[in-house]
Amino acid sequence: MAKTLMCDPSLLARDLSGQTIIVTGANSGIGLITAEQLAKQGAHVVMACRRVEEAEQCIQDIVAKHPSAKLEAMRLDLGDLASVRSFAKSFLDSHDKLDVLVNNAGVMNTPEGKTKDGFEMQFGVNHLGHFLLTDLLLDVLKTSAPSRIVVLSSCYHDQAMGRDGDIHFDDLNFESKTYDGWEAYAQSKLANLLHAKGLAKRLEGTNVSAVSVHPGWVRTNLIKNSVPLWVQNYVMRPVSGLIGLIEPWEGAQTTLHAVLGDDVPANTGAYYSQKGIYRDKAAKAGGWPLHSPNPVAHDDVVADKLWDVSRELTGLAN
Ligand SMILES: NC(=O)c1ccc[n+]([C@@H]2O[C@H](COP(=O)([O-])OP(=O)(O)OC[C@H]3O[C@@H](n4cnc5c(N)ncnc54)[C@H](OP(=O)(O)O)[C@@H]3O)[C@@H](O)[C@H]2O)c1
Repeated sequence: MAKTLMCDPSLLARDLSGQTIIVTGANSGIGLITAEQLAKQGAHVVMACRRVEEAEQCIQDIVAKHPSAKLEAMRLDLGDLASVRSFAKSFLDSHDKLDVLVNNAGVMNTPEGKTKDGFEMQFGVNHLGHFLLTDLLLDVLKTSAPSRIVVLSSCYHDQAMGRDGDIHFDDLNFESKTYDGWEAYAQSKLANLLHAKGLAKRLEGTNVSAVSVHPGWVRTNLIKNSVPLWVQNYVMRPVSGLIGLIEPWEGAQTTLHAVLGDDVPANTGAYYSQKGIYRDKAAKAGGWPLHSPNPVAHDDVVADKLWDVSRELTGLAN
Protein backbone atom coordinates (compact mmCIF):
# COMPACT_ATOMS: atom_id res chain seq x y z
CA MET A 1 0.00 0.00 0.00
CA ALA A 2 1.43 3.40 -0.99
CA LYS A 3 2.04 5.74 1.94
CA THR A 4 -0.08 8.87 2.32
CA LEU A 5 1.77 11.87 1.01
CA MET A 6 1.91 14.82 3.36
CA CYS A 7 2.24 18.44 2.31
CA ASP A 8 5.65 19.98 3.05
CA PRO A 9 5.49 21.40 6.63
CA SER A 10 7.11 24.63 5.45
CA LEU A 11 4.12 25.22 3.14
CA LEU A 12 1.74 24.64 6.05
CA ALA A 13 3.62 27.25 8.08
CA ARG A 14 3.61 29.90 5.34
CA ASP A 15 1.94 33.21 6.24
CA LEU A 16 -1.13 33.72 4.05
CA SER A 17 -2.18 37.07 5.52
CA GLY A 18 -3.79 39.27 2.88
CA GLN A 19 -4.93 36.31 0.75
CA THR A 20 -8.59 35.66 0.00
CA ILE A 21 -9.53 32.04 -0.67
CA ILE A 22 -12.90 30.50 -1.56
CA VAL A 23 -13.49 26.84 -0.65
CA THR A 24 -16.76 25.32 -1.89
CA GLY A 25 -18.37 22.62 0.27
CA ALA A 26 -16.23 23.77 3.20
CA ASN A 27 -18.60 22.60 5.97
CA SER A 28 -17.56 18.95 5.75
CA GLY A 29 -14.76 16.47 5.01
CA ILE A 30 -11.79 17.60 2.94
CA GLY A 31 -13.18 21.11 2.40
CA LEU A 32 -13.56 21.76 6.12
CA ILE A 33 -9.97 20.74 6.88
CA THR A 34 -8.73 22.80 3.92
CA ALA A 35 -10.62 25.90 5.10
CA GLU A 36 -9.39 25.51 8.68
CA GLN A 37 -5.74 25.07 7.69
CA LEU A 38 -5.72 28.04 5.28
CA ALA A 39 -7.48 30.28 7.83
CA LYS A 40 -5.01 29.13 10.51
CA GLN A 41 -2.24 30.37 8.18
CA GLY A 42 -3.85 33.83 8.01
CA ALA A 43 -5.91 33.70 4.80
CA HIS A 44 -9.40 35.18 4.73
CA VAL A 45 -11.44 32.07 3.85
CA VAL A 46 -14.89 32.23 2.28
CA MET A 47 -16.78 29.02 2.98
CA ALA A 48 -19.19 28.64 0.04
CA CYS A 49 -21.81 26.19 1.31
CA ARG A 50 -25.40 25.23 0.65
CA ARG A 51 -26.05 24.88 4.41
CA VAL A 52 -24.88 28.24 5.73
CA GLU A 53 -25.92 27.56 9.35
CA GLU A 54 -23.70 24.47 9.37
CA ALA A 55 -20.82 26.54 7.93
CA GLU A 56 -21.37 29.18 10.62
CA GLN A 57 -21.14 26.51 13.31
CA CYS A 58 -17.90 25.27 11.70
CA ILE A 59 -16.54 28.83 11.81
CA GLN A 60 -17.31 29.08 15.54
CA ASP A 61 -15.45 25.80 16.13
CA ILE A 62 -12.43 26.91 14.08
CA VAL A 63 -12.24 30.35 15.73
CA ALA A 64 -12.43 28.67 19.16
CA LYS A 65 -9.22 26.83 18.22
CA HIS A 66 -7.57 29.67 16.25
CA PRO A 67 -8.90 33.00 17.60
CA SER A 68 -7.30 35.14 14.87
CA ALA A 69 -8.75 33.03 12.02
CA LYS A 70 -10.85 35.01 9.54
CA LEU A 71 -13.64 33.03 7.90
CA GLU A 72 -16.98 33.91 6.41
CA ALA A 73 -19.90 31.70 5.36
CA MET A 74 -21.72 32.46 2.11
CA ARG A 75 -24.60 30.54 0.54
CA LEU A 76 -23.87 28.56 -2.62
CA ASP A 77 -25.99 25.74 -4.05
CA LEU A 78 -24.12 24.29 -7.01
CA GLY A 79 -27.26 22.45 -8.05
CA ASP A 80 -28.93 25.75 -8.90
CA LEU A 81 -27.26 28.06 -11.44
CA ALA A 82 -29.24 31.06 -10.10
CA SER A 83 -27.64 30.41 -6.69
CA VAL A 84 -24.19 30.23 -8.33
CA ARG A 85 -24.79 33.60 -10.02
CA SER A 86 -26.10 35.11 -6.80
CA PHE A 87 -23.08 33.83 -4.81
CA ALA A 88 -20.65 35.26 -7.39
CA LYS A 89 -22.40 38.63 -7.34
CA SER A 90 -22.40 38.83 -3.53
CA PHE A 91 -18.73 37.81 -3.41
CA LEU A 92 -17.71 40.37 -6.05
CA ASP A 93 -19.77 43.11 -4.35
CA SER A 94 -17.97 42.56 -1.06
CA HIS A 95 -14.42 41.50 -2.03
CA ASP A 96 -11.92 43.05 -4.42
CA LYS A 97 -9.50 40.14 -4.72
CA LEU A 98 -9.42 36.35 -4.98
CA ASP A 99 -6.12 34.50 -4.68
CA VAL A 100 -7.36 30.91 -4.75
CA LEU A 101 -10.63 29.25 -5.75
CA VAL A 102 -10.94 25.68 -4.46
CA ASN A 103 -13.74 23.85 -6.29
CA ASN A 104 -14.10 21.19 -3.63
CA ALA A 105 -17.84 20.47 -3.16
CA GLY A 106 -19.17 17.24 -4.57
CA VAL A 107 -21.65 14.41 -4.44
CA MET A 108 -21.05 10.75 -5.31
CA ASN A 109 -23.22 7.91 -6.59
CA THR A 110 -26.43 9.82 -5.90
CA PRO A 111 -29.81 8.24 -6.61
CA GLU A 112 -31.18 9.30 -9.98
CA GLY A 113 -32.08 12.99 -9.77
CA LYS A 114 -31.79 16.36 -11.47
CA THR A 115 -30.48 19.76 -10.44
CA LYS A 116 -32.81 22.76 -10.40
CA ASP A 117 -31.83 23.45 -14.03
CA GLY A 118 -32.57 19.86 -15.12
CA PHE A 119 -29.03 18.45 -15.32
CA GLU A 120 -28.10 14.99 -14.01
CA MET A 121 -27.26 15.67 -10.35
CA GLN A 122 -23.56 14.70 -10.31
CA PHE A 123 -22.68 16.32 -13.65
CA GLY A 124 -24.67 19.40 -12.61
CA VAL A 125 -23.28 19.86 -9.09
CA ASN A 126 -19.74 18.55 -9.49
CA HIS A 127 -18.99 20.04 -12.90
CA LEU A 128 -21.52 22.55 -14.34
CA GLY A 129 -22.06 24.51 -11.10
CA HIS A 130 -18.30 24.86 -10.64
CA PHE A 131 -17.81 25.63 -14.34
CA LEU A 132 -20.16 28.64 -14.11
CA LEU A 133 -18.77 29.72 -10.73
CA THR A 134 -15.20 29.71 -12.06
CA ASP A 135 -16.14 31.68 -15.14
CA LEU A 136 -17.90 34.35 -13.08
CA LEU A 137 -14.78 34.71 -10.89
CA LEU A 138 -12.18 34.66 -13.66
CA ASP A 139 -11.80 38.44 -13.94
CA VAL A 140 -11.04 38.86 -10.24
CA LEU A 141 -8.66 35.88 -10.34
CA LYS A 142 -6.83 37.59 -13.22
CA THR A 143 -6.59 40.95 -11.46
CA SER A 144 -5.37 39.13 -8.31
CA ALA A 145 -2.70 37.10 -10.18
CA PRO A 146 -0.60 35.17 -9.37
CA SER A 147 -3.65 33.16 -8.42
CA ARG A 148 -4.89 29.57 -8.60
CA ILE A 149 -7.88 27.37 -9.27
CA VAL A 150 -7.84 23.94 -7.64
CA VAL A 151 -10.49 21.44 -8.78
CA LEU A 152 -11.26 18.29 -6.77
CA SER A 153 -11.40 15.42 -9.25
CA SER A 154 -10.89 11.76 -8.29
CA CYS A 155 -9.12 8.62 -9.47
CA TYR A 156 -12.68 7.56 -10.30
CA HIS A 157 -12.46 9.87 -13.33
CA ASP A 158 -10.60 6.91 -14.82
CA GLN A 159 -12.70 4.04 -13.57
CA ALA A 160 -15.47 3.99 -10.94
CA MET A 161 -16.53 0.57 -9.73
CA GLY A 162 -15.80 -0.95 -13.13
CA ARG A 163 -17.32 1.88 -15.18
CA ASP A 164 -14.80 3.58 -17.49
CA GLY A 165 -14.72 7.36 -17.21
CA ASP A 166 -16.03 9.03 -20.36
CA ILE A 167 -18.01 12.11 -21.37
CA HIS A 168 -21.26 10.86 -22.89
CA PHE A 169 -22.00 13.80 -25.17
CA ASP A 170 -24.95 11.96 -26.74
CA ASP A 171 -26.68 11.61 -23.35
CA LEU A 172 -24.95 13.72 -20.67
CA ASN A 173 -28.03 13.65 -18.41
CA PHE A 174 -28.95 9.94 -18.74
CA GLU A 175 -32.19 10.71 -20.53
CA SER A 176 -32.00 7.85 -23.08
CA LYS A 177 -30.01 5.21 -21.23
CA THR A 178 -30.58 3.67 -17.80
CA TYR A 179 -29.13 5.76 -15.00
CA ASP A 180 -25.97 4.43 -13.35
CA GLY A 181 -24.71 6.38 -10.33
CA TRP A 182 -21.07 5.28 -10.73
CA GLU A 183 -20.97 6.02 -14.45
CA ALA A 184 -22.38 9.47 -13.72
CA TYR A 185 -19.78 10.06 -10.96
CA ALA A 186 -16.94 8.99 -13.28
CA GLN A 187 -18.25 11.34 -15.98
CA SER A 188 -18.46 14.27 -13.55
CA LYS A 189 -14.96 13.69 -12.13
CA LEU A 190 -13.48 13.37 -15.64
CA ALA A 191 -15.24 16.65 -16.45
CA ASN A 192 -13.54 18.20 -13.37
CA LEU A 193 -10.11 17.12 -14.63
CA LEU A 194 -10.84 18.36 -18.17
CA HIS A 195 -12.16 21.65 -16.77
CA ALA A 196 -8.81 22.33 -15.05
CA LYS A 197 -6.96 21.41 -18.25
CA GLY A 198 -9.22 23.65 -20.32
CA LEU A 199 -8.75 26.53 -17.89
CA ALA A 200 -4.96 26.16 -17.96
CA LYS A 201 -4.96 26.32 -21.76
CA ARG A 202 -7.22 29.39 -21.90
CA LEU A 203 -5.41 31.17 -19.03
CA GLU A 204 -1.94 30.87 -20.54
CA GLY A 205 0.04 34.07 -19.93
CA THR A 206 -2.31 35.37 -17.21
CA ASN A 207 -0.43 33.96 -14.21
CA VAL A 208 -3.60 32.15 -13.12
CA SER A 209 -2.90 28.40 -12.72
CA ALA A 210 -5.46 25.62 -12.70
CA VAL A 211 -4.93 22.03 -11.57
CA SER A 212 -7.10 19.06 -10.62
CA VAL A 213 -6.44 16.72 -7.71
CA HIS A 214 -7.27 13.26 -6.42
CA PRO A 215 -7.20 13.34 -2.61
CA GLY A 216 -6.97 9.59 -1.93
CA TRP A 217 -9.79 7.47 -0.53
CA VAL A 218 -10.85 9.62 2.40
CA ARG A 219 -13.20 8.91 5.31
CA THR A 220 -15.87 11.60 4.75
CA ASN A 221 -19.62 11.87 4.22
CA LEU A 222 -19.16 11.44 0.45
CA ILE A 223 -19.76 7.70 0.70
CA LYS A 224 -23.23 8.11 2.25
CA ASN A 225 -25.19 7.09 -0.88
CA SER A 226 -23.14 3.91 -1.29
CA VAL A 227 -22.44 2.63 2.24
CA PRO A 228 -24.13 3.69 5.51
CA LEU A 229 -21.83 6.13 7.33
CA TRP A 230 -21.81 3.89 10.46
CA VAL A 231 -20.31 1.06 8.37
CA GLN A 232 -17.52 3.37 7.15
CA ASN A 233 -16.92 5.02 10.53
CA TYR A 234 -17.19 1.99 12.84
CA VAL A 235 -16.74 -1.21 10.78
CA MET A 236 -14.23 -0.09 8.14
CA ARG A 237 -12.29 2.40 10.26
CA PRO A 238 -10.42 -0.14 12.43
CA VAL A 239 -9.04 -1.73 9.24
CA SER A 240 -8.57 1.55 7.35
CA GLY A 241 -4.79 1.04 7.15
CA LEU A 242 -5.30 -2.31 5.41
CA ILE A 243 -7.92 -1.09 2.94
CA GLY A 244 -6.26 2.26 2.17
CA LEU A 245 -8.92 4.50 3.71
CA ILE A 246 -7.35 7.72 5.00
CA GLU A 247 -8.53 10.42 7.42
CA PRO A 248 -9.77 13.86 6.24
CA TRP A 249 -6.57 15.58 7.46
CA GLU A 250 -4.54 13.23 5.24
CA GLY A 251 -7.02 13.64 2.38
CA ALA A 252 -6.69 17.43 2.47
CA GLN A 253 -2.93 17.24 1.82
CA THR A 254 -3.20 17.13 -1.99
CA THR A 255 -5.49 20.16 -2.05
CA LEU A 256 -3.16 22.02 0.31
CA HIS A 257 -0.18 21.14 -1.86
CA ALA A 258 -2.07 22.37 -4.93
CA VAL A 259 -2.97 25.64 -3.15
CA LEU A 260 0.50 26.24 -1.69
CA GLY A 261 3.14 24.27 -3.64
CA ASP A 262 5.73 26.31 -5.55
CA ASP A 263 5.80 23.72 -8.34
CA VAL A 264 2.13 24.20 -9.22
CA PRO A 265 2.30 27.17 -11.67
CA ALA A 266 4.84 25.25 -13.76
CA ASN A 267 2.44 22.31 -13.88
CA THR A 268 -0.72 24.22 -14.69
CA GLY A 269 -3.32 21.89 -16.21
CA ALA A 270 -1.91 18.85 -14.42
CA TYR A 271 -3.72 16.24 -12.35
CA TYR A 272 -2.08 15.92 -8.92
CA SER A 273 -2.66 12.60 -7.23
CA GLN A 274 -2.23 11.81 -3.57
CA LYS A 275 -2.47 8.07 -3.85
CA GLY A 276 -3.94 6.85 -7.11
CA ILE A 277 -4.35 3.22 -7.97
CA TYR A 278 -3.02 3.23 -11.49
CA ARG A 279 -3.01 0.82 -14.37
CA ASP A 280 -0.39 2.96 -16.04
CA LYS A 281 3.19 2.36 -14.89
CA ALA A 282 4.19 5.92 -15.83
CA ALA A 283 2.05 7.25 -13.00
CA LYS A 284 3.87 6.05 -9.93
CA ALA A 285 1.76 5.24 -6.91
CA GLY A 286 2.26 7.43 -3.89
CA GLY A 287 3.92 10.31 -5.70
CA TRP A 288 2.39 13.44 -7.20
CA PRO A 289 2.06 11.62 -10.56
CA LEU A 290 0.70 14.57 -12.60
CA HIS A 291 -0.64 12.11 -15.10
CA SER A 292 -3.95 10.40 -15.61
CA PRO A 293 -4.14 6.84 -16.90
CA ASN A 294 -7.43 7.60 -18.68
CA PRO A 295 -6.74 8.29 -22.40
CA VAL A 296 -9.86 10.53 -22.57
CA ALA A 297 -8.19 12.82 -20.01
CA HIS A 298 -5.52 13.53 -22.65
CA ASP A 299 -7.91 14.04 -25.54
CA ASP A 300 -7.93 17.74 -26.47
CA VAL A 301 -10.90 17.30 -28.79
CA VAL A 302 -13.03 15.98 -25.91
CA ALA A 303 -11.73 18.73 -23.62
CA ASP A 304 -12.65 21.48 -26.11
CA LYS A 305 -16.04 19.94 -26.84
CA LEU A 306 -16.82 19.69 -23.13
CA TRP A 307 -15.80 23.33 -22.71
CA ASP A 308 -18.18 24.47 -25.46
CA VAL A 309 -21.05 22.27 -24.23
CA SER A 310 -20.56 23.49 -20.65
CA ARG A 311 -20.69 27.12 -21.81
CA GLU A 312 -23.94 26.37 -23.66
CA LEU A 313 -25.54 24.55 -20.74
CA THR A 314 -24.63 27.22 -18.18
CA GLY A 315 -25.83 30.07 -20.38
CA LEU A 316 -22.35 31.52 -20.90
CA ALA A 317 -22.42 31.08 -24.67
CA ASN A 318 -25.30 33.54 -25.19
N1 LIG B 1 -13.71 11.22 0.06
C1 LIG B 1 -13.06 10.64 -0.93
O1 LIG B 1 -12.61 9.49 -0.83
C2 LIG B 1 -12.83 11.36 -2.21
C3 LIG B 1 -12.08 10.73 -3.22
C4 LIG B 1 -11.89 11.39 -4.42
C5 LIG B 1 -12.41 12.65 -4.61
N2 LIG B 1 -13.14 13.25 -3.62
C6 LIG B 1 -13.71 14.59 -3.89
O2 LIG B 1 -13.44 15.44 -2.80
C7 LIG B 1 -14.42 16.47 -2.74
C8 LIG B 1 -14.85 16.70 -1.31
O3 LIG B 1 -15.59 15.58 -0.87
P1 LIG B 1 -15.52 14.98 0.61
O4 LIG B 1 -14.96 13.63 0.49
O5 LIG B 1 -14.91 15.93 1.55
O6 LIG B 1 -17.09 14.79 0.88
P2 LIG B 1 -18.11 15.45 1.89
O7 LIG B 1 -17.61 15.39 3.28
O8 LIG B 1 -19.43 14.81 1.59
O9 LIG B 1 -18.14 16.98 1.45
C9 LIG B 1 -18.79 17.38 0.28
C10 LIG B 1 -19.17 18.84 0.39
O10 LIG B 1 -19.85 19.22 -0.83
C11 LIG B 1 -21.03 19.90 -0.46
N3 LIG B 1 -22.06 19.88 -1.48
C12 LIG B 1 -22.74 18.81 -1.95
N4 LIG B 1 -23.68 19.21 -2.83
C13 LIG B 1 -23.60 20.57 -2.90
C14 LIG B 1 -24.31 21.57 -3.60
N5 LIG B 1 -25.34 21.27 -4.39
N6 LIG B 1 -23.93 22.85 -3.45
C15 LIG B 1 -22.93 23.19 -2.62
N7 LIG B 1 -22.23 22.29 -1.91
C16 LIG B 1 -22.56 20.99 -2.05
C17 LIG B 1 -21.49 19.20 0.81
O11 LIG B 1 -22.45 19.98 1.48
P3 LIG B 1 -23.50 19.29 2.51
O12 LIG B 1 -22.75 19.06 3.77
O13 LIG B 1 -24.57 20.31 2.60
O14 LIG B 1 -23.96 18.00 1.86
C18 LIG B 1 -20.16 19.11 1.54
O15 LIG B 1 -19.84 20.33 2.14
C19 LIG B 1 -15.54 16.04 -3.69
O16 LIG B 1 -15.47 16.81 -4.88
C20 LIG B 1 -15.23 14.59 -3.98
O17 LIG B 1 -15.68 14.17 -5.25
C21 LIG B 1 -13.35 12.65 -2.42
